[in-house]
Amino acid sequence: MSSLTMTTTIIEQKPFSPGKTQKIIDTFNRDGCVNVGPLLSADEAAELREAIDRIFADPEAEKTDNIYSPYIAVRLFEHDIRFRDLAVREPLISLMEAMLGEDCHIIANNCVRNRPGEAIDGFHADDFVWFPLPDDIPRFDSRMTMPTFLVNTHIALTDVETEEHGPLQYVSGSHYSGRQPNDPKDPEFEGQRKVSMFAKAGELYLQHPQVWHRGAPNTSDRTRYITGFGFSKRFISQRFYPFLNYRMPDHVLEGADERLLRVLGKHPKGAYG
Ligand SMILES: [Fe+2]
Repeated sequence: MSSLTMTTTIIEQKPFSPGKTQKIIDTFNRDGCVNVGPLLSADEAAELREAIDRIFADPEAEKTDNIYSPYIAVRLFEHDIRFRDLAVREPLISLMEAMLGEDCHIIANNCVRNRPGEAIDGFHADDFVWFPLPDDIPRFDSRMTMPTFLVNTHIALTDVETEEHGPLQYVSGSHYSGRQPNDPKDPEFEGQRKVSMFAKAGELYLQHPQVWHRGAPNTSDRTRYITGFGFSKRFISQRFYPFLNYRMPDHVLEGADERLLRVLGKHPKGAYG
């Protein structure tokens, strides 16, 4: 297996300064989405696109439920060690530890490969509204900070530079709404409408699961590749399909240091077991 060190452009692999880390967290808390900047070089992004193509082309991947839909694959770390190692790449991992705690871990490692016309294009808050509000309470007080139990980290593997490329779109601040979007295509929250998260190949952006978001339809002739992780606080159990009796393959753990093992789920005893 090759490593992520074969690059022509060097991307600095070190934690952000405390000041920069706090600035990212403040923007994330306020807007629900933030572009952090380059995590991978363009060459590394190209290598991972090829790795994703191999997963989709592998007839075994369907049988092992690594393929969820024609354009979504999951548990990428099982297929290629480079996805596993990405979970502890700097500055991603230090940022996640600052946001979710020193005992955070991954609960998902997916990719979305949108060929033209493919997208999850209805606005939504992921899964369910964590703190629903009744109709007569319009929003959470802007003086409080919406808790972050889970962060969707996205790494663009192709340039997403225009709306035609199918960017992530979100409604800034809508994670304070306490409800699902008021329109599936063009929701509005306190005068805020959808904005696009543009990114160059290799850039990392973070998204609060509760901010209203979607993948805009890819109407270009360029296939859009993104990968990433769901990082969570420790109290959210890991949930890799088939969930009950999931066993992480031995080869995924081979050579992993203690930090990586913890990110993969090795913890001391604690609350909830
Ligand atoms: Fe989503």
